[in-house]
Amino acid sequence: MATSANRLIRIFDTTLRDGEQAPGCSMNPQEKLEVARRLEKLGVDIMEAGFPASSPGDLESVKNIAGIIKNCSVAGLCRSLEKDIDAAREALKKAAQPRIHIFLATSPIHMEYKLKMTAKEVLEQAAASVRYAKKFCSDIEFSAEDASRSDPDFLCQVFGEVIAAGAVTVNMPDTVGYAVPDEFGALVRYVKEHTPGAEKAVFSVHAHNDLGLAVANSLAAVAAGADQIECTVNGIGERAGNASLEEIVMALRVRRDILKADTRIDAAQLYGASRLVSQVTGVRVQPNKAIEGDNAFAHEAGIHQHGVLANRATYEIMTPESVGISKNLMVLGKHSGRHAFEDRLKELGFTVDSQTLETLFAQFKDLADKKKTVSDRDIEALVMDAAGQAPETWHLDHWAVNTGSALGASGTIRLHHKNGEIKKEVSMGDGPIDSIFKAINQIIGKEPELDLYEIGAITGGSSSQGETMVKISHNGRRWNGRGVSTDVIESSIKAYLSAINAMEWELGGGASK
Ligand code: KIV
Ligand code: ZN
Repeated sequence: MATSANRLIRIFDTTLRDGEQAPGCSMNPQEKLEVARRLEKLGVDIMEAGFPASSPGDLESVKNIAGIIKNCSVAGLCRSLEKDIDAAREALKKAAQPRIHIFLATSPIHMEYKLKMTAKEVLEQAAASVRYAKKFCSDIEFSAEDASRSDPDFLCQVFGEVIAAGAVTVNMPDTVGYAVPDEFGALVRYVKEHTPGAEKAVFSVHAHNDLGLAVANSLAAVAAGADQIECTVNGIGERAGNASLEEIVMALRVRRDILKADTRIDAAQLYGASRLVSQVTGVRVQPNKAIEGDNAFAHEAGIHQHGVLANRATYEIMTPESVGISKNLMVLGKHSGRHAFEDRLKELGFTVDSQTLETLFAQFKDLADKKKTVSDRDIEALVMDAAGQAPETWHLDHWAVNTGSALGASGTIRLHHKNGEIKKEVSMGDGPIDSIFKAINQIIGKEPELDLYEIGAITGGSSSQGETMVKISHNGRRWNGRGVSTDVIESSIKAYLSAINAMEWELGGGASK
């Protein structure tokens, strides 16, 4: 946590906007809300909930989040157009701390080829849009898109005008991840020193990771005077992604001695947030990812293990517990009671209502019957499985497959529709999964594309639970699904059905209800 000796750096999280707009990272409205709640618990200062003018679904989702999240600012992104600002204003109506975030590109290449505007026109439009937004909202952020490839003096001029028009935060995105740390730090220092009225605004940065430098550039910017960093959980975002929130937070915390800055983030929530975002997007965290990759605290080499046993600090610069990775040695199994289960949920950072606790406890008992011990990862998977799922249009009743090397595969499935109807279908297919998915398609009367099907084990060993992620698309729209079971065919069916339920819910107008 920040102490009086440290500067307090604001964390502006854009997982739900820049992160979500990355290919393969889309989230349904419940998933977005689940992530928003987790970000609030993490202690972000501002969360960018979406881009309201980009679609009616995005507007609704920002509205939904803004009505529920009360302990941090909720921002909506807009181009510097009145219609975008109106959409953001509508979406943020119920926010306790609304922020309107306006962007306009300032680099020669963007102004000439994308905007087809002169520098003078950009200057005027930037100021006019901030002036317009200021009529409805006191907290206005202005971003000079592609700032790192913009003329520094022009940036100072634009920022001077938008600050005079009412912007209280000015942001310098390295939109294409082109900057290198010394250069980016020097740009921040120069612009902060030469912008008229700079003392009235917070200077912010937003770095992309095309050269793998997003975190390094953000830290260089902090050293040069930036007081806000924009980032995403797991670094998800356009192309190579954005600066990773967890790496920034831990770099500042572990190296406070040098960087003399810290954030309000509760680091013990980092791992849970990372797992949640990975689960809902279906994008796995690479094993060697700093802070929360599977190998981030694994010591394989004998000499390292020896050192860690003697003193953890020999090879660990932070503890796994400090980022929320529990090394709890108390094993849960079929004799564990409700209290032990509830305590473990709390330790893992989950707060659930009593009805969800009942359901989870029953599932835990069921799992403990099948597996000797239930690990923290198993418990997380149960909770994630219950979280963020669209209401069920179709509920799995039972399934069966017949398969073998000499035979084709046939799958039988029986589903309950929410209106009480029970439907059963049988289909042949190229393997058990294909046959059962085809049988499901026959029941629902649609044939969505299966864009991704990924299966992994939650823990090691043959009794591990299988975790399946699927992504489907239909008429140009996409949905994610996930499923967990000790049986990989069942986890696949659950994942496919969860994506189908998300699709049915959204196509049936559920997302905007
Ligand atoms: O990368 C970028 O420039 C952005 C802005 C819209 C802030 O995401
Ligand atoms: Zn961006």
